[in-house]
Amino acid sequence: MALVRRIRLLLLRIRYPKAAFGARCDIRRRFSLELGCSAVVQFGERCVIDRDMTIECMGTLVVGDRTIFGHHCTIAARHSITIGSDCLIAEMVSVRDHDHAFSRIDVATREQGFSVSSIQIGRNVWIGGKVSVLKGVTIGDGAIVGANAVVTRNIPANAVAVGVPAKVVRMRT
Ligand SMILES: CC(C)(COP(=O)(O)OP(=O)(O)OC[C@H]1O[C@@H](n2cnc3c(N)ncnc32)[C@H](O)[C@@H]1OP(=O)(O)O)[C@@H](O)C(=O)NCCC(=O)NCCS
Repeated sequence: MALVRRIRLLLLRIRYPKAAFGARCDIRRRFSLELGCSAVVQFGERCVIDRDMTIECMGTLVVGDRTIFGHHCTIAARHSITIGSDCLIAEMVSVRDHDHAFSRIDVATREQGFSVSSIQIGRNVWIGGKVSVLKGVTIGDGAIVGANAVVTRNIPANAVAVGVPAKVVRMRT
């Protein structure tokens, strides 16, 4: 299996020379990566990307070491998304640093461009299944986000936050 993993990583590096994947990253089936012309994508060492993950990057995406993504995650960076080391990102999590702009009602929403604000996710953060992290949010080191939450505001370090919108229900310490 280690050999298969290494071959897959090698093929990925050849296919996407502009993206950087650290040593011993384990990238599973049907990984999709769309890169803009000035995009920067960097993964640290020993990250796991489970099957069917989609990354759309027109800006910068930086992921630390040993961070794990469950299956069917989506990360879309028009400006900047950083995710620290040792994070657990469960299945079907969505992290997007932009919305469609929609201030005009006389123009189709799809033609109004984007409203963009960067996202920072600290180290050792656990994000439960099917969570959405919206633009402009910072999630502190050691925080936990419960399954199905929608993160619309910052979550402090070591907080446990749940719900829609995500609210802190307790601290880990
Ligand atoms: C957030 C979580 C870790 C909290 O676990 P916990 O500390 O055992 O929390 P509790 O079960 O004591 O719940 C505390 C309160 O938050 C509520 N709550 C817990 N998880 C919730 C969630 N995901 N959404 C909404 N409310 C939630 C509970 O109902 C409880 O409310 P109450 O005090 O009014 O009764 C856990 O509930 C969770 O969501 N885990 C994610 C599981 C997952 O997605 N795993 C993917 C594999 S990596």
